[in-house]
Amino acid sequence: MKNIVIFASGTGSNALTLIRHFRDSETIRVKAVFTNVVNAGVVEKAIQEDVPVVTFTRAMSDEPSELDVLLDRNQPDLIVLAGYLWLFPARIIQKYPGKIINLHPALLPKYGGKGMWGKAVHDAVLKNGETESGISIHFVNEKYDAGQMIAQAKCPVLPGDTPDRLAGRIHELEYRLLPEVVEELLK
Ligand code: GRF
Repeated sequence: MKNIVIFASGTGSNALTLIRHFRDSETIRVKAVFTNVVNAGVVEKAIQEDVPVVTFTRAMSDEPSELDVLLDRNQPDLIVLAGYLWLFPARIIQKYPGKIINLHPALLPKYGGKGMWGKAVHDAVLKNGETESGISIHFVNEKYDAGQMIAQAKCPVLPGDTPDRLAGRIHELEYRLLPEVVEELLK
């Protein structure tokens, strides 16, 4: 059995998509959700799906800690950052080379970097009059949104789009592409 561990800080709709996608799989499972936000939507979603949740603090992220121990104990074959907002610890990246991926709601290298998440991304895309946006799935390195690209998908930006409408279109792309990419990487 291959184990996925998800890191998320927010609503968790992508985490839920992955959990449900692999629920009946005999070869791949979502083993745990790790979060730094105790009351994030992702916590309730994971609990409802019977997926264990691990919460951790900034101090645990900054230094070798119980976070490392709990992560190792889950024996991750792939770590998926799905709406995870802190810079991922370098020591953990070094321990799991080529096994950590991030999902980003824009066509990197545009609209990435520190502070570029959620509405800020879509606001910037609309403000710049882009005619297309999309999603990026990439390996995680020690900088925000800068690791090697794995897959991208595009969608149009339509006249009259609001950040919310664009986010909805982006989410649809994410729900399709993320499970596919994860499956491919774990084959
Ligand atoms: C997604 O749009 C993802 O690209 C970004 O954060 C968002 C998380 O959404 N990194 P959700 O929590 O999965 O609903």
